[in-house]
Amino acid sequence: MTPPFSQPVVDDFVKVDALIRDSLSSHIPLVEEISRYLIEAGGKRLRPLLVLLCARACGYTGQDHIKLAVVIEFLHTAMLLHDDVVDASDLRRGRETVNARWGNPASVLVGDFLHSRAFEMLVEIGDLRVMEILANATNTIAEGEVQQLAHVRNPDLTEQSYLQVVFRKTAMLFQAASHCGAVLAGADPKTECALRDYGRHLGMAFQMIDDFLDYTGNTEELGKNVGDDLAEGKVTLPLIIAMREGNPDQAGFIREAIISSRTDNLKDVIGTVMATGGLAYTESSAGREQKKALACIADLPSSIYRDSMESLVDFVVNRNG
Ligand code: IPE
Ligand code: IPE
Ligand code: MG
Ligand code: MG
Ligand code: MG
Repeated sequence: MTPPFSQPVVDDFVKVDALIRDSLSSHIPLVEEISRYLIEAGGKRLRPLLVLLCARACGYTGQDHIKLAVVIEFLHTAMLLHDDVVDASDLRRGRETVNARWGNPASVLVGDFLHSRAFEMLVEIGDLRVMEILANATNTIAEGEVQQLAHVRNPDLTEQSYLQVVFRKTAMLFQAASHCGAVLAGADPKTECALRDYGRHLGMAFQMIDDFLDYTGNTEELGKNVGDDLAEGKVTLPLIIAMREGNPDQAGFIREAIISSRTDNLKDVIGTVMATGGLAYTESSAGREQKKALACIADLPSSIYRDSMESLVDFVVNRNG
């Protein structure tokens, strides 16, 4: 079912889906089989939506926003393929992950294929500023993933470092999506910055909620496993706050859970994270980003696209999946 906030670009999305299908052909059948397996499983398609809405909100009337939306979705999917290897995850978009089904080597290599196909398409668009934004974004995302890796099982990770990782690994692609949409449409510098910042705040809120849902969500709605973050020793905001605000016993319990990365006591970890206010703090931090995102687009001329951009922010913060 198409969410109501996608409605203004529903025709564009039909073209995006068709271009996704056409762009996955490969001389190597396994490449095609694996990339179709993951991409056709769906996903929320939030980043291509962002490209389409931002370009349209800036009055864009051309057709390159379709290709740009596909580029962003391919980059995102390539990152998911690598992410599931790094995180040893076995469920994605309600299906067995590619790494679980075909193994890590296939997952990494098809991720590279999607990444490079995205850059081929980007060259076809031929906008040097858009290329610059995406080259920079993908580089920063890679740094964010490595920065996070360097902190695995580190209970001393600060809130500030956590926010840096979230910006790099996730908010950067949201920011690039909204920014490129505005650049493609030839927006004036003030609008361009407003849309870039809108994407960044949306992305920050998105990842905080993702981390929140890793403790509170359910597998069916998420299409991925709950508790994966603890299992891989990933220190996220709910845990950081639980150690900071909890009494010595609670803080010690969470520290130990991070260091051992055991999930057999996940229920108690969730209980502690809740009792210490870690979950509420994470939600309210996401709420602050939500407000900032909305403020960024408050001065845009009113349009059905801007209305959808507002609803998208609310969806991201209130989602269960
Ligand atoms: C998952 O992103 C990766 C994160 C940044 C948390 P999404 O939740 O948008 O993934 P899909 O595309 O909907 O599957
Ligand atoms: C994803 O972070 C960030 C990416 C760059 C893909 P997560 O590892 O939290 O994403 P999920 O929860 O597996 O989707
Ligand atoms: Mg992951
Ligand atoms: Mg990860
Ligand atoms: Mg996650």
